[in-house]
Amino acid sequence: MKIVGHRGASEDAPENTLQSMKLAWEQGAYAAECDIIRTDDGKLVLMHDDSTKRTALDGVDLLVEHTDWNDLNKLDVGSWKGEKWKGVKIPLLEDVLRAIPDGNHLYIEVKSGDTNRGADPRVIDDLENLLEKEKISPEKITFICFDHDFLNRLKKRVPRYNAYYLTSFAEFPGKWPDVRNEVELEMYIREAHKNGIDGLDMENSPVITKEWVEKIHGKGLKAAIWSYSKDDTLENALKYKDIGVDFLTTNMPARILQGLDPSCR
Ligand code: G3P
Ligand code: CA
Repeated sequence: MKIVGHRGASEDAPENTLQSMKLAWEQGAYAAECDIIRTDDGKLVLMHDDSTKRTALDGVDLLVEHTDWNDLNKLDVGSWKGEKWKGVKIPLLEDVLRAIPDGNHLYIEVKSGDTNRGADPRVIDDLENLLEKEKISPEKITFICFDHDFLNRLKKRVPRYNAYYLTSFAEFPGKWPDVRNEVELEMYIREAHKNGIDGLDMENSPVITKEWVEKIHGKGLKAAIWSYSKDDTLENALKYKDIGVDFLTTNMPARILQGLDPSCR
C-alpha cells in the first residue's frame, strides 16, 4: 500500500499549496493529492472550496470560478495555518506539475463544486493542453472526481493517464456517489470497467472488507481509500494495508508512515 498526502501534507502545511505538496513527497508519501478549480480567466488553480473565505487571510471571500488569476494571486492562503506560512500563495496547477519529483505522483481532484453540481467541462481541454505543454508522463498522474460522467469524458481524451471514481460513504446521502454496500460497490465496479476507468477511490468505512478489495482487483481495478480527519488514524491505515488496498490518502503522511512497514514508502 502506498500513501497519498491529502491536500498535500495538510496536517503540517497549508492545504493545496506548493509547499504542502512538496512536504508530502518529502515525508515519504508516494503521491500528493490536490483539488483544482478553473478561474474566470481559464487558469487551473489549487483550491478545495468554491470560495477563498476559509483559507485566505482576513477571510477574503472570492468565488474562484468568477475571479481572475491576478486577483487570486494577491491572496495569502498560508497565514491561517501559522506564522511560518505567512505569504504563501495559491499555486497554479502547472507549477505543481513541474515540481513532481521523479518516482513520485500527483492525484488531481477536479472539483465539482461544494454542492456537487458537476465539474466544469472546459477543464477537459485545459488539462489535455497542459499535460501536452508540460510533457507530463502518465506515470506521474491520477485524476479523481466525484462527477463520474466528467471523468469518463476526461479518460477518453487522455486515456494514458489514470482515473479513479471518487465515492462517498453516507454523510450526505444522494448528493455524492455513495459506496455503502456490495450492491453499490458492484455497480461502480461495472461502470468503471465499462468506461475504462482504472480504479475506485472510496471514502473510508467499516463495511469495506478484503472481499470488497478482491472484487475490485478481480476486474483489474485499483482500490484506494480516503477519509475525513476523524477517521484518519493509524488503526485504519493498518486495516487497509492488511486487506490489500493499493493507496491510502491521509492528512499526515509522516505520522502514518511511522506506523507502517517500509514497503509503504
Ligand atoms: O481524496 C479524496 C478527497 O480529497 C475527497 O474529499 O473534500 O477532501 O476533496 P475532499
Ligand atoms: Ca480532494
